[in-house]
Amino acid sequence: MNYRHAYHAGNIGDVLKHLVLARCISYMQRKDAAFRIIDTHAGIGGYDLQAEETQKTGEWQQGIAKVLAADVPAKAAPVLADWLDVVKGLNPGTELTQYPGSPALARALMRPQDRLTLTELHPADFETLAARFEGDWQVKTIHLDGWLALGSFVPPKEKRGLVLIDPAFEVTNEFELMADGMIKAWKRWRSGMYLAWYPLKDRKSVERFHRTLEEAELRDVLVLELNAGYNSPDRPMKGSGMTIINPPFTLAEEMRNTLPWLAEVLAQGPGASARIFQLLDE
Ligand SMILES: C[S@@+](CC[C@H](N)C(=O)[O-])C[C@H]1O[C@@H](n2cnc3c(N)ncnc32)[C@H](O)[C@@H]1O
Repeated sequence: MNYRHAYHAGNIGDVLKHLVLARCISYMQRKDAAFRIIDTHAGIGGYDLQAEETQKTGEWQQGIAKVLAADVPAKAAPVLADWLDVVKGLNPGTELTQYPGSPALARALMRPQDRLTLTELHPADFETLAARFEGDWQVKTIHLDGWLALGSFVPPKEKRGLVLIDPAFEVTNEFELMADGMIKAWKRWRSGMYLAWYPLKDRKSVERFHRTLEEAELRDVLVLELNAGYNSPDRPMKGSGMTIINPPFTLAEEMRNTLPWLAEVLAQGPGASARIFQLLDE
């Protein structure tokens, strides 16, 4: 396991992932009933943008830093607010030094009745994650393979909630594991919301992944893509996608109001674009 998210925190992939995660959590809060968030590939929880790793790549400067520096149009402002308010809350001064990973973001958006389950397999990253949430009775951290968690932690006892699936894409069969894991989990818990993130480097793998979901006859699947430029398998990642089962009914419209603008803000050259489409109907 070589991947460490510290090198990538706040990058263009995190922009899409965390924006969507925050909107989905916010939607769950429309009802008082408790929900559970399961984050199968959690990372260390939150990131110091002045640390050696983040400084080395500086990927956050192409991501969150550009978003914070931009003039947000009125239609996108309420969509970005849940996520950006958490980021701004961590950075009360003028300088951007802290960035919340999915666990810190989810935790900041939870109510007292909600719960968070975090699994992480990298031993050192798990230790950092566990230390961060030690003593927090709303959060459970588990040193476990996220694919096992996906298969066995659903449905949660709250019967409401969402699963974030955010693997490192270090191994070649990650798309197959993701499709297989999502289909099996959906069969066990059909009303759960599932949010899967992936890089858009190899279009063929993404198409195969989507075809597998179609063949399994899942229902109500939305796809969101955000590109800062043209993607290719042998160049650094320029874009990413999210495939969401049972998205909030408001999400597609919200993303139509936000992602095309974000693509302009994050553009690193020609090919910057956004795509929003329903892969499978309800
Ligand atoms: C993209 S990062 C997660 C970032 C995090 N979700 C966030 O948004 O802040 C992927 C994480 O998955 C971990 N990982 C890799 N293989 C795993 C597995 N089989 N089960 C659980 N975690 C795994 C890596 O160590 C890494 O921390």
